[in-house]
Amino acid sequence: MKTAESHGQRVPRIAVFASGSGSNFQALIDAAREQLLGGDIALLVCDKLQARVIERAKLAGVKAALFEPKKYASREEYEQDVLRLLRKHQIDFVVLAGYMRLVTPVLLRAYEGRMVNIHPSLLPSFPGMHAVRQALHYGVKVTGVTVHLVDEGMDTGPILAQQVVAVMPDDTEDTLSARIQQAEHALYPQVVQQMIARSLVKSASV
Ligand code: GRF
Repeated sequence: MKTAESHGQRVPRIAVFASGSGSNFQALIDAAREQLLGGDIALLVCDKLQARVIERAKLAGVKAALFEPKKYASREEYEQDVLRLLRKHQIDFVVLAGYMRLVTPVLLRAYEGRMVNIHPSLLPSFPGMHAVRQALHYGVKVTGVTVHLVDEGMDTGPILAQQVVAVMPDDTEDTLSARIQQAEHALYPQVVQQMIARSLVKSASV
């Protein structure tokens, strides 16, 4: 396989944004370690001081940047600060993994086509925070995982990949969430790798 380095380019640098447990962050770290990502996880951006993902970053030796969005006058000012940090660390791609806020044009313009999100449903069904609960409540027989490019909306943006997860008759929110997360951990690194590969091909052809 041709890597970025064999093309004479530097290895792409990824920032993961997360607010919670960070199991997807971990899956991305593991994939990068096995050279399956086509890039390095160079930075964690976290907006929750107590988030478990911070501990995971420490263990993985990844720099964790903690932000307190409430301290800023606006979402845009907060993102200007985040963007300065991304530039300082020469970040090429942004991967949202349980990052619980909407993104403004400040970051969207800077990372157009290079920022992805993962969501625990088959979008456009069940966007928002309670996707698994809503799927159970609605009684759907299949749900799943969606990876999409980020835009200003909540869980909108062009879909890159989806994975179906069957809903079992005795599923609870916990059991279904656990199976969805397994699917996420397999799918997300693959889609990130594909995004990076596509972007390398594009930049090599201009
Ligand atoms: C995932 O289910 C993801 O789809 C959603 O938030 C959750 C984050 O989980 N956007 P984790 O922090 O990666 O464990």
